[in-house]
Amino acid sequence: MADKWTPDSWRSKPIVQVPDYPDKEAVADVESRLATYPPLVFAGEARKLKAQLADVAEGRGFLLQGGDCAESFAEHHADHIRDFFRAFLQMAVALTYGAQQPVVKVGRIAGQFAKPRSSNIEKKGDIELPSYRGDIINGIEFNEDSRIPDPERQVKAYRQSAATLNLIRAFAQGGFANLDHVHQWMLGFVKDSPQAHRYQEMADRISDALSFMRACGIDPDNTPQLRSTDFFTSHEALLLGYEEALTRIDSTTGECYATSGHMLWIGDRTRQLDHAHVEFFRGIKNPIGLKCGPSLDPEELIKLIDVLNPENEAGRLTLITRFGQDKVFEHLPAMVRAVEREGKKVVWSCDPMHGNTITANGYKTRPFERILREVEAFFAVHRAEGTHAGGVHVEMTGRNVTECTGGARALSAEQLGDRYHTHCDPRLNADQALELAFTIAENLRKESDTRLAVNT
Ligand code: PEP
Ligand code: CO
Repeated sequence: MADKWTPDSWRSKPIVQVPDYPDKEAVADVESRLATYPPLVFAGEARKLKAQLADVAEGRGFLLQGGDCAESFAEHHADHIRDFFRAFLQMAVALTYGAQQPVVKVGRIAGQFAKPRSSNIEKKGDIELPSYRGDIINGIEFNEDSRIPDPERQVKAYRQSAATLNLIRAFAQGGFANLDHVHQWMLGFVKDSPQAHRYQEMADRISDALSFMRACGIDPDNTPQLRSTDFFTSHEALLLGYEEALTRIDSTTGECYATSGHMLWIGDRTRQLDHAHVEFFRGIKNPIGLKCGPSLDPEELIKLIDVLNPENEAGRLTLITRFGQDKVFEHLPAMVRAVEREGKKVVWSCDPMHGNTITANGYKTRPFERILREVEAFFAVHRAEGTHAGGVHVEMTGRNVTECTGGARALSAEQLGDRYHTHCDPRLNADQALELAFTIAENLRKESDTRLAVNT
C-alpha cells in the first residue's frame, strides 16, 4: 500500500532540479499568498480534457500539444499570444482535415515558466554563474543578481498566466476560432511560404464544405463546434511549491486538482519513482504527461504507470516519448510492447524536439529534417505494433523566428542569428510548424489505411 498522499507529501521525498532560494521565509510567504488566490483553471475543465484524451487513448483522435519552450516576462504581448494561437489553429485544422480525426488542443502556455537544466552552472568566458531556470525562478540576464532565485517571481508568473489564459479563452470562445475564418488564420509571413499554397487549397475546400453544410441548415450560428473550440493549457510542473499552493479540492468530487493548468507533465529529469515529482503527481486528478527519454527502462516505465495511474484510467496518462531521431527504433518498440503486455491505457505522444538538439554556428538548434525523422519513426513503430500514434508535443511559436534550421525555406545555420529569440530551447517557426502538421496528417492517413486493410 502506498503511503497517504497529501498536497505536501512530496516535501519528505528526495528532489532534483529545484532552486536554492536564499530566503526560505520569503518562499513560505509567497506560497501562502498564492494559496489564497483564485484557481487558474477548473476541475471540470481538466475532466473534460481527460475525457477527450481517453478517446485518443482508445484510438479516436489526436493530441496536438505545443508552445514555447519557456514563456518569458519580457515577451508577454497580446500579438505573440494571438500569433501563437493562429499558428496552432492552422496546425490543428491541417491535422483535423488531413487525418479526419478530432484534434485535442493543448498549449504549452499560461504557466510554462520553470526549466530543468542539464547543468547547475553557466559559464561565459571566465565567469561562472548559476544557470537560468526560467522566469518563475530567476532572470536570464547573465549577472550575479539576476541569477539569484527570487520567490516574488512566482506571483508574477501566476498573474501573467491568468492574463494569458484570459486572452486565450477569448480567442477560443469569442469568434476568432470560428471555422468561417479559416483563411484569415494565415499569418502574414507565412503567406509567401511554400506551405501557403497547400494551406490555401485546404482552406478553400473547408469553405466549400461549410457552404454546403450552411445550405443544409448547419452553420456557426446554430453549431457551437463550428464557431469555437476547446483549448487547454499545460506546463511542466517542476516548481512543486508553486503547484502545491495552487492545488485545490474540487467541491463537486472532493478530489485534489492542480489548478495552475489543465494538464501537467513530469520532465525526463525528474521522473524518479521514489522522488518528489512522482509523489506530487500521483495524487492530483488532472490528466498528466510523463516524458520518456532513452534512459527510461520499459520495466521502470510500467512501475511508474502503476504509481501514476493505478486505476488504469484512459486519458489520465500521456507518455511523451523523446529519444532523438536515431534512437526511436532502439527504444520505442520495447516500451510499446511492455505497455501492451500489461494492458495499460495510455496516449502515446511524440516529442521530436528534445532528443534532437545540436549546436551549429554557436547556436543551440534543431535541424527540421531530424524532427521530421523522429516523427516518421514514431509513426512507423506504432504502425508496426498496431498501436495508435496518438499525439505530438512540439516547441513552436507563431513568430517568424530563426531557431531551427531547415524546413521548406531551407533555413541555414548562418541565418540562425537573424531572429533567435527563445528563452531556452529552439522552437519551430509558424512555417515549419505548419509543414510538420501536414506531414503528420499524411502519416495519420497511412495509419487509418493500415487499420482499414487489417479490418477488411
Ligand atoms: C521541455 O519539455 O522543455 C523539457 C525540458 O523536456 P524534457 O523533460 O523531455 O527534457
Ligand atoms: Co524545451
